[in-house]
Amino acid sequence: MRPRPLIIDCDPGVDDAIAILLALASPAEFDLLGITTVAGNVPLALTAANARRICQLAQRPDVPIYAGCPRPLLRSLTTAEDIHGATGLQGAELPEPTTPLQAQHAVAFLIEQFTTTPHPITLATLGPLTNLAVTLIQCPAIAQGIDQVVMMGGALGGGNVTPAAEFNIYVDPHAAKVVVDAGLPLTMIGLDATHQVMTTPERLTALENLGTPVGKAAAGMLRYYGQLDVERHGLAAPPLHDPCIIAYLLRPDLFSGRPMRLAIETEGSLCIGRTVANAYPTAAVPANATVIQTVDAEGIYALLTERLGKL
Ligand code: BDR
Ligand code: CA
Repeated sequence: MRPRPLIIDCDPGVDDAIAILLALASPAEFDLLGITTVAGNVPLALTAANARRICQLAQRPDVPIYAGCPRPLLRSLTTAEDIHGATGLQGAELPEPTTPLQAQHAVAFLIEQFTTTPHPITLATLGPLTNLAVTLIQCPAIAQGIDQVVMMGGALGGGNVTPAAEFNIYVDPHAAKVVVDAGLPLTMIGLDATHQVMTTPERLTALENLGTPVGKAAAGMLRYYGQLDVERHGLAAPPLHDPCIIAYLLRPDLFSGRPMRLAIETEGSLCIGRTVANAYPTAAVPANATVIQTVDAEGIYALLTERLGKL
């Protein structure tokens, strides 16, 4: 089988970085056309530099990186240095990138790719949806070039920034609304699923025991990352969000979910950024997304560790 053409839109961010490494470690499955970055966990200059550092760590400086939108559509930017550290990738010593950032804006790159590709492209979104929303607004015809969008974002249960909202949707709810309402083939992997994938001490040790620069960097970042989540949400160990999107594309059998009708709350002080999901779509109000609800966490971590061992 031909590798699946893939673009990753992200805001690295520790878990984004691990997701990128998982994709880079899977060349038989993915033809990674490029990585686009957006402001989110840390400001845009850092997300773009971090994506380049991670590709350098994996000895893949050839992967082109494009910087996108520096702020959400309407709201001011909320960042998450409390979770990811001041640099966004706390806990790892990373090499300086040897390849410059691409001059082209991420939105121009996405439009070019989706409108000229002979094979529909899969888009993995790991951050706020600003880049994809602006791309859709500028050029609705991109839909023809999209195979599917797999998004880390949202929650059917509680949020992680507010009681109602998950970070990626909360940061730019207006962009999320543009994306969810666009009618693209969409899969949502939200907190309901990712909170099942915990970075236990045993899983962390397995990564560290790879003994490679990538294994050490991944374990170092994950050791720091998410401690606040543990305290705040009373979890047994930090949850692993963004790598689930890449794992889903590699091994959909590790995930299960169902079609739902998704909508995004863009107003109000209590529920802004909430993903409102109707699990009982009708002919009049049909499903617009597959929402993942359960995952095989052991299988996902085994896949991650096995693949990162190849880098
Ligand atoms: C999401 O928020 C970010 O901090 C993570 O990178 C992930 O994409 C989880 O809510
Ligand atoms: Ca992210």
